[in-house]
Amino acid sequence: MKIMIVGSGGREHAIALKLSESDQITQILCIPGNGGTANLPKCRNIAMNVGDFAGIARFAGVQGITIVVVGPEDPLANGLADYLQAEKIPVFGPTKAGARIESSKIWAKELMIKAGVPTAQGKSFTKSEKAKEYIASQAAPLVVKADGLAAGKGVIVAETQTAALQAVDELTTQGFTTLVVEECLTGTEVSVFAVTDGQTFRTLLAAQDHKRIGEGDTGENTGGMGVYAPAPLVTPELMGRIEREIIAPTLNALKDKQIDYRGVLYAGLMITPTGDPKVLEFNCRFGDPETQVLLPLLATPLEKILAACVEQKLEALPPIEWHPGCGVCVVAAAEGYPGKYRRGDEIIGVDAAEEMGVTVFHAGTQSRQQQLLTSGGRVLGVTAIGEDFTAAVNKAYGAIARIEFEGMYYRRDIAHQVLPKPEPETTPSPAIEEADADPTASNDLEAE
Ligand code: AMP
Ligand code: GLY
Repeated sequence: MKIMIVGSGGREHAIALKLSESDQITQILCIPGNGGTANLPKCRNIAMNVGDFAGIARFAGVQGITIVVVGPEDPLANGLADYLQAEKIPVFGPTKAGARIESSKIWAKELMIKAGVPTAQGKSFTKSEKAKEYIASQAAPLVVKADGLAAGKGVIVAETQTAALQAVDELTTQGFTTLVVEECLTGTEVSVFAVTDGQTFRTLLAAQDHKRIGEGDTGENTGGMGVYAPAPLVTPELMGRIEREIIAPTLNALKDKQIDYRGVLYAGLMITPTGDPKVLEFNCRFGDPETQVLLPLLATPLEKILAACVEQKLEALPPIEWHPGCGVCVVAAAEGYPGKYRRGDEIIGVDAAEEMGVTVFHAGTQSRQQQLLTSGGRVLGVTAIGEDFTAAVNKAYGAIARIEFEGMYYRRDIAHQVLPKPEPETTPSPAIEEADADPTASNDLEAE
C-alpha cells in the first residue's frame, strides 16, 4: 500500500511512524510533513501547499496512492476530500459537508439538538447587541464561542457576565460575525474518537488532553499540552453510554443528511459531576496530541482500520486490539505559545531522549542543514508507554529533561491526576500512644 498523509504536526508524524512500521506499506508521502517524518523509513516529505487541492489530487493519482489520510481540519473543511473523491482517490477524512461538524459550531449544535445528543444549552447570534442582551439575562459563568474554525482560540470561558460581554467584543473585533453563547459545563473533559465508514463505527481508547497552557489547568487554551490514555474515568459502561447516546445518534444524523462520512468523529466531552457525558465540541479528525499516545498503544495494524473505513468494510473488521499499558505524552512548546512564539531555535537532545525508550514526535520542527530547528508553537511531543501511569510519567519526564531549545516550555503535571495519591502520613492518636506506653492506663480506659 502507498499512503499519502496531509499535514505537518505531531499527529501526522504519529500516523506516519505507525504506518512505516508495517510491512504492508511500501511508501508514505507526507504533504508537507515535518522534521520527524523526513527521517522515517519509506517516508518522503513533499513540499506542496496543503491548500493546493487540485495539485494534491493530481499528484496522488500519478503516484498510485492507495489511501490519502488528511490530518488537520482546515483542508477537510475546505473540501480536500471532495476533490480527491472526484478523482476517485480513496480518502480517510470527511467531505466538506461532513467537516461542518467541526467548522460550524452552530451547525453541529443544531444537529445535536435534533438528534437528542446531550450538549450544553446555548443560542447563536449574528448581532453582537443581541448576544449581549442574552448574556445579561443569563447567570455566569458562560461560554462565548465564535462560529467557524479558530485553531482553539475562538472559545472564551467567562467567569462573570462582564467577562462574557467583553468576550463578545473581543471575538467581534477579531472578525467573527456569528457567535454562540452557551452554559458553562463543569466536570472532567475527555476525548473519544470513533472511526467510521459512514455505516458503522468503532471507538478507540478514551484519552485525556490538557488544554490549558499552565499547570493545574490554568491560563490560556492551547491545542493541547499533553495527554494520557486510556483515561480511567471512561469505564466500559461509560464508553457504552457515549457510543449509544452520542456517537451513534450523531453518525445517524449525518447519514440522514446524506453525508457520506468516512474518517474520524472526535467527540470532545465533558463528564459532568453526575457522571453524564455531554458534548463540548465535535471535530472531524484525529486529535493532536491524543494521536501521539493512541497510536503507540494500538495493536491492530492502522492501515487495516483506514482501509476498512474508506472501503466501507468496517463491520467485518475484527475488534480493534490494544497493547497493554498506559501512554503519556508531554508537549514541549516554544516560548510565547499559544500567543506569538519564538521560532528558528536549534533543538538538541532528541536522540538522547529516545535512548530512554520514548518516542519523540515532531510537531513544529524543520530540518535545515543537519540542524533541527523549531518552527511551530507546539514543537515536540514526548510519548512514553509504561506498565502503569507512574512508569509512563517517570519515563516521559526523564526523557524530556534531556531535550533543550531556547525558551522551551512544558507542563510538569501531565497525567498527575491519575498517579496514585501519596499515602497520608499516619500519626498515631495520643490515646493509642498512651495505651501502648502504659498498659495500666489502657486497663483503666477499658474499665471506664
Ligand atoms: P471547543 O473548541 O468548543 O472544544 O472549546 C475549547 C475548550 O473550551 C474546551 O476544551 C473546554 O475546555 C472549553 N469549553 C467549551 N465549551 C464549554 C462549555 N460549554 N462549558 C465549559 N467549558 C467549555
Ligand atoms: N487536542 C485537541 C484537538 O486535537 O483539537
